[in-house]
Amino acid sequence: MAESPNLALGYNSTYELFDSPLMQAIRRESYGEDIGQYSWVTAAELREHLQSLKLTEQSRVLDFGCGPCGPLTFIAKNVGCQLVGVDLSAQALAVGAARAKRMEVSSLIELHQADGNSALPVRAGFDAVVSFDVILHLQDRATILKRFSSLLKPSGKILLTDAGVVTGAISNEEFALRSVNGFTQFVPPGFNEKILESCSFKILSITDRTDGLLHNASGRIRARSAHAEELIKIEGPEKFHEQQRYLETVVKLSERKALSRMVYLAEWSTR
Ligand SMILES: C[S@@+](CC[C@H](N)C(=O)[O-])C[C@H]1O[C@@H](n2cnc3c(N)ncnc32)[C@H](O)[C@@H]1O
Repeated sequence: MAESPNLALGYNSTYELFDSPLMQAIRRESYGEDIGQYSWVTAAELREHLQSLKLTEQSRVLDFGCGPCGPLTFIAKNVGCQLVGVDLSAQALAVGAARAKRMEVSSLIELHQADGNSALPVRAGFDAVVSFDVILHLQDRATILKRFSSLLKPSGKILLTDAGVVTGAISNEEFALRSVNGFTQFVPPGFNEKILESCSFKILSITDRTDGLLHNASGRIRARSAHAEELIKIEGPEKFHEQQRYLETVVKLSERKALSRMVYLAEWSTR
C-alpha cells in the first residue's frame, strides 16, 4: 500500500500504536466495548445501524474512511457480508488488515488506500455505503455523495454520520481547537439533507447522536488522563495536551449543543 499523501492529517501518528494493549484499554474505558473504532460510534450504536441497513450475508458494503477498520471488521464478524474499505491513511489500513486477520474475516474484506476527494478505485454494485465521522474531513461533499449514488445498486442505502453540524454559537478559537485532526468542514443544519436530496437520495431518518458523542468524549478524556504518564511517553507532551484540549472542546461544544453529531440514513432512488 502506498503511503498517504496527506501527512498533515493528524490521524496518521495515532494509528502507529492503535491496537497496542494500552490503546485497547483506553478504548474499553472510554466506550465500554472496544471495537477498534476511531470515531464516536459505539458497538451499541453500530448494532442499531446494522438493523436499519438490513444487511445480510449476501450484502456488499463500502466503508468510506474506514480508518483502522473497527466498524468494518465488526460488521464482517457480525453479518458475514463482503466489505470494501477505503481510507487516506495506509497506516490505518495496515492496522485494519492485521485486525481482520486476527478476527479471521480477511477473506470478506478488500482495502484500498485512496483520497476520497477523487474517484474511488472500487467496483460499483454496493448494497450500502457507510461512513462514520469522515464527511467533515472532505472538501466537496456534493461530488462525493453523487459518487456514492453511482456506486450503489438501485434502492441501496447510505448511512452517514457528521459530527460537525453547527447548531449554536462557536468562537474562532473553538473552531481551531476542534480542527486539530486536519481539514475540517462545519455545516449548518439542512446542508447535508439538501445535498442528499439533490443526489437522488430519499432520506429515511435523521437522528441526533450528540449525547452519545458527549458521553464518549468525556470517557476518552478520563481514560487518557488516567493513563497520562504512559501516553506522554508515546505521544510526547505537546501532542498529548493538544488531544486533551481537542476533547475538552468537543465536550464543551456538545454540552451546550453548539455542535451536533447527526446520523443520516437514506436510500438511493432511481426516479
Ligand atoms: C474519525 S476517523 C474515522 C475512522 C473510522 N470510520 C472509524 O469509525 O473508526 C476519520 C477517517 O477519515 C479518513 N480520511 C480523512 N480524509 C480522508 C480523505 N480525503 N479520503 C479518505 N479518507 C479520509 C482518516 O484517515 C480517518 O481514518
